[in-house]
Amino acid sequence: MRKNYNWIRAKKVIVGGNMFISKRPDLYLPNSWPTYYKKAKGCYIWDLNGKKYTDFSMMGIGTNLLGYARNEIDKEVIKKTKNGSMSTLNSFEEVLLAEQLNKIHSWSEKVCFARTGGEANAIAIRLSRAFTKKNKIAICGYHGWHDWYQSCNLKNKKNLNNYLMEGVSTEGVPKELKNSTVTFKYNDIDNFLKVTRKHNVGTVIMEAERSEKPQDFFLEKVREICDKKKIVLIFDECSSGFRENLGGIHLKHKVFPDLCTFGKALGNGYAISAVIGKEKIMKMGRKSFISSTFWSEGIGPVAALKTLEIMKKEKPWKNIKNVGLEIKKFWKEISNNHKIPMVIQGMDAIPNFYIKSENFLKYKTFITQEMLKEKYLATNIVYICTKHNKEIFKNYKLKLEKIFDQLNNFEKGRLRINKFLKNGSSKLGFKRLN
Ligand SMILES: Cc1ncc(COP(=O)(O)O)c(C=O)c1O
Repeated sequence: MRKNYNWIRAKKVIVGGNMFISKRPDLYLPNSWPTYYKKAKGCYIWDLNGKKYTDFSMMGIGTNLLGYARNEIDKEVIKKTKNGSMSTLNSFEEVLLAEQLNKIHSWSEKVCFARTGGEANAIAIRLSRAFTKKNKIAICGYHGWHDWYQSCNLKNKKNLNNYLMEGVSTEGVPKELKNSTVTFKYNDIDNFLKVTRKHNVGTVIMEAERSEKPQDFFLEKVREICDKKKIVLIFDECSSGFRENLGGIHLKHKVFPDLCTFGKALGNGYAISAVIGKEKIMKMGRKSFISSTFWSEGIGPVAALKTLEIMKKEKPWKNIKNVGLEIKKFWKEISNNHKIPMVIQGMDAIPNFYIKSENFLKYKTFITQEMLKEKYLATNIVYICTKHNKEIFKNYKLKLEKIFDQLNNFEKGRLRINKFLKNGSSKLGFKRLN
């Protein structure tokens, strides 16, 4: 077995090897995933040896919708850096950004800034709890690493298996938080009603859309129930925001939350996240202590302002959505042609699939392994960016077709997948990635 020496070295000095589980190499291809980069531009990444790959996978885990190292954004960031990205005084760009976010979301009156999605959600939860005076939160997805969220696993350690990953431990999460966060099922209004009836829920936090599209007026019904029960409704748009339209995807569905959070694509690779919302709840931020040094630095707002300016001008959403739909169509075709049953899902801008087979994880690893030989970073999900052009997609299709011929041999028992995986299967689950 080849050894990934850089990763071994990292694990000696950094807890878990890195601080973002979604970038752990074992998640993709043990020992062979390039793991580190020295340059990223457009949708290309160069590893430490200078080998160039096309990123047809995570695109910075959803951050770089406009491609890596966008010149116009970098230029503004460099200008800000040269003039001091941080000082004793405030950065005026944050005022401009807050105005923009409120303008895009006419229902919102005030804004808070942070630098990560998890922080933005923790702020939103604090504001909501301060407003409702109720502790209980209902969730149906992933919202970050903080205690309020992971406490969901205190009652049953499998609660977050479907939203975050298998086996997330509650080590270090206060036991007193047990039962403070409960789950409901997306698109199941009866279940939502049951959960809100059974528990004294003060806050509902959810993604308006992620792996499934809302069915049968689910969002409208959730809104109505929240209004009736005086529950604060938070839409987490950290991943969905600015991906298929300007602002939160809830604008497309015309269902408006009380608070909404953004991260990821907002700064196109620079750290910036935001909470926006109604004055009566947001003003609790003056009563509750919510403050952090680097939430006031200047690079995030500058990057976000330029990102929004480019988005408004180029309106990348239509094309991104079309590419996503084409990818979904292609996966469906190869699934049918090769008789390999697949579930194809996700927002159109983040299509993903899984193969209905007990060997799915091995097949996914094989796809990554074979695509890597073709200098593509590819797995079972694509965060589409503006740089994923027709040529890149055409090559991807040709390569994946061949890989599916082989998968068919595995699935029919003509060949054994284990023999074809050079370094074993990729891993899933909290314990296995540690
Ligand atoms: C919907 C959603 N909320 C919150 C987060 C957490 O964001 P961050 O990793 O920036 O803390 C993520 C990250 O993937 C996410 O997808």
